[in-house]
Amino acid sequence: MSAEPVPEIDIHTTAGKIADLERRIHEATHAGSARAVEKQHAKGKMTARERLEAFLDPGSFVEFDEFARHRSTSFGMERHRPYGDGVVTGYGTVDGRPVAVFAQDFTVFGGSLGEVFGEKIVKVMDHALKTGCPVIGINDSGGARIQEGVVSLGLYAEIFKRNVHASGVIPQISLIMGPCAGGAVYSPALTDFVLMVREKSHMFITGPDVIKTVTGEEVTFEELGGAHTHNSRSGVAHYEAVDEHDCLDFARALLSYLPSNNMDDPPVYETEVTLEVTDADRELDTVIPDSPNQPYDMRRVVEHVLDDGDFLEIHAGFAPNIVVGFGRVEGRSVGVVANQPMHLAGTLDIAASEKAARFVRTCDAFNIPVLTFVDVPGFLPGTDQEWNGIIRRGAKLLYAYAEATVPLVTVITRKAYGGAYDVMGSKHLGADINLAWPTAQIAVMGAQGAVNILYRRELAAAEDPDALRARLITEYEDTLANPYLAAERGYIDAVIRPSDTRVHVIKALRALRNKRATLPPKKHGNIPL
Ligand code: HXC
Repeated sequence: MSAEPVPEIDIHTTAGKIADLERRIHEATHAGSARAVEKQHAKGKMTARERLEAFLDPGSFVEFDEFARHRSTSFGMERHRPYGDGVVTGYGTVDGRPVAVFAQDFTVFGGSLGEVFGEKIVKVMDHALKTGCPVIGINDSGGARIQEGVVSLGLYAEIFKRNVHASGVIPQISLIMGPCAGGAVYSPALTDFVLMVREKSHMFITGPDVIKTVTGEEVTFEELGGAHTHNSRSGVAHYEAVDEHDCLDFARALLSYLPSNNMDDPPVYETEVTLEVTDADRELDTVIPDSPNQPYDMRRVVEHVLDDGDFLEIHAGFAPNIVVGFGRVEGRSVGVVANQPMHLAGTLDIAASEKAARFVRTCDAFNIPVLTFVDVPGFLPGTDQEWNGIIRRGAKLLYAYAEATVPLVTVITRKAYGGAYDVMGSKHLGADINLAWPTAQIAVMGAQGAVNILYRRELAAAEDPDALRARLITEYEDTLANPYLAAERGYIDAVIRPSDTRVHVIKALRALRNKRATLPPKKHGNIPL
């Protein structure tokens, strides 16, 4: 393709100049060859422009730098200088709210990042930071543009630096819709949310071929770094989309819970709530099984408290023993953190601690109150956990709660044992309103464990140890495993009927709406990593 005017256009006239612009725009919007576009579609993937069109409000997109072109002269690059240089950048709106966007265009140089490509992303990120709007990046790239060498590596680092500077200031969302390999994965990794598309996207530092050469391991692209792997095993990704539209929809939904920047509040949606206890509320009175060892789905509890039961779960496939996500109470965003007794009995392990810590910090950075539901029997025991650093990695969750200055409301539904009681949004760490159901058991440990330790000698000497154990367990449960000792000391502000939870949470969040809390001045904390 040539940028030279075609003969019939006389660029010495105004009409000709406008026609010349039209021709250039056409060239820029068709920068990828028909063959490359066909190949992209054949893979079930949209082009960069199609993705932006599907993502943004209709007609809202304004492009930056559509005529930018690379300046490279190596490897015959000077003969092919397509407009846009393989990335489409600009701004637009989502639900009427401004966002900055970039979409890597795999149909041009395989979406590889060269100098001009990188400069375009840098510009749009600077625009987002300057204007305080979220930045959404759609990744589909062969990585560093080989022909441009170190210049392309330099631009990657410029992007990383901006990701870090923007962290906690504006929301950053990465959509992975194709390859994302080598150091290129670190830009998405530095952003708030990483969304991947099943069987269409891959993230890895070194690919299957390098792995085979170096370690001898054989692994497929999908197994190594596909959407399912990163949503279940590594925790790198926060959402596994079934297709590209699902991925774009999830990003739009996420934005609806987030403020445009850290100086702003999340959007408020007009919602009528009743402060009367409803039939749906009363269903919570029968959620907790009589047996403390029987699980129940904590998601049901969460949904009963949120407006219309709408819960946007994040990171659902990773560490399912803790549930995190967004919802609304009275039309206002809340972040939910909830132990899930259905998995590993709701214990805290490394993955759950890191998942929840990251989420609490995300909420705190973006002025979103945190609503915590507790049913936790403790930390997961085992050498695997200890040797992999549950001490330093579990500490992240404590750190996250203790440094959070947003409104914190905690509801203990059942178990709150040991250190995990402290961790899960306890009053002592700084939670504002702590509620407990009458089924709450707040203690150093569960009855079984406690009785075995406290009465080891008596049990060993007993004629019928099982009968004695059962009696002692009942005694322990009646005296210690309840919410009232904590309530006596004010560690729990109120013991409430489960059916009153929704109304209590609404009132608590209303009361906390103007909460102002600050931490001692410092350069930054030193969270255990
Ligand atoms: C320049 C590239 C490119 C790259 C792909 N292309 N990657 N050009 N630099 N990094 C070009 C191809 O030459 C081809 O051009 C077009 O893009 C489409 O690529 P295909 O190979 O035909 O596509 P496909 O078969 O789908 O394979 C996609 C792919 C493969 C798996 C991504 O292209 C690939 O392995 N690329 C190299 C990946 C890589 O090693 N990148 C460097 C990683 S290190 P034509 O003209 O034929 O259409 C890195 C470091 C980042 O990125 C550092 C940050 C700190």
